[in-house]
Amino acid sequence: MRTVAVIGRKGGSGKTTIATHLAIGFYLRGRRTLMADCDPQLSAVEVLKSRLDLGPEPVASSAGKLAALKAAAGESGLDALVVDTPAVLQEETEQAVMLADLSILVVRPTFLDLTAAVHTSSIIRQLRRPGLVVLNQAPVARENVEPPVVKRAIEALNLLRLQVAPVVIRSRGAYQTVLESGRSVEELRFEMVAAQEMKELCAYIDRFLFGDRGRVPAPAPRVQQPARLLFSEMEESV
Ligand SMILES: Nc1ncnc2c1ncn2[C@@H]1O[C@H](COP(=O)(O)OP(=O)(O)OP(=O)(O)O)[C@@H](O)[C@H]1O
Ligand SMILES: [Mg+2]
Repeated sequence: MRTVAVIGRKGGSGKTTIATHLAIGFYLRGRRTLMADCDPQLSAVEVLKSRLDLGPEPVASSAGKLAALKAAAGESGLDALVVDTPAVLQEETEQAVMLADLSILVVRPTFLDLTAAVHTSSIIRQLRRPGLVVLNQAPVARENVEPPVVKRAIEALNLLRLQVAPVVIRSRGAYQTVLESGRSVEELRFEMVAAQEMKELCAYIDRFLFGDRGRVPAPAPRVQQPARLLFSEMEESV
C-alpha cells in the first residue's frame, strides 16, 4: 500500500480539492483507496460521502489514530491511502508526513503562499521524507505561455530546492462545483481541459508511487520528467 499526505499550512490553498481528486484518481486507476480526513472540519469526508458512484472510502482520522489506520488499511489489502490534513494543526501534518511515501504540498502561486511553503517544507525536510509541490489555483496559460506569476513561483520554489510537479492545476470554476457531487473533474465530459490536467497530475503521481506494480497498470505519464522527485538533498526513494 502507498500513502500520500496532502499538506500546506496556508488555509484554502486547495488541499482538500487535491486530496479528494487524488483519491478518486487512484480509484479510477484501479486502486482500492482509503481517504483519511485529519481535518476536524471533515470536508473530504463530506465530499466523498456525496458521491453516488463507487469510489474511495472516506474515514475521519487524527494524528493519534493515523498510524493504526494505516496499519489496518495495509493489512486489509488496500492499495492507496490518501491523507487530507488541516492548515493549522501541526501534529496532524507531522504525523501524516512521517507515515507517507509522498507528501504533496499544495501551494498557490502567490507571495503569501510561497512564504508559508517555506515553513511547511521545513517539516518535510526535518523528517527527511519525500515531498512534491503541486501548484494550484494558478492563472490559466494563454497560448501555452505561462503567466509571469506562475513562472516566478516555479523559480522561487526551485531556488528553495523544492521539487515542483510538472503539471500545474489552474484556477477553474469546475473545481469549485464538481466536489458537490463527490466527483473529480476527470469524470466530467464537458470540462475537457480541467479533466486533462487532472488526468496528467493523477497519472504522474500514480506512476511515481506504483510504477508498473499494482493490480492495474497505470497509464504511461505524458510528462517526460523522470520520477525522481523530492526535495533535492533527499535520496530516499519510495
Ligand atoms: N484549482 C482550483 N480552481 C478553483 N477553485 C479552487 C481550486 N482549488 C481549490 N479551489 C477552491 O478554493 C477553496 C479552498 O479549497 P480547499 O477547501 O480545497 O482548500 P484547503 O486547503 O483544503 O482549505 P483548508 O485550509 O480550509 O482545509 C474552495 O472553495 C475550492 O473550491
Ligand atoms: Mg481542507
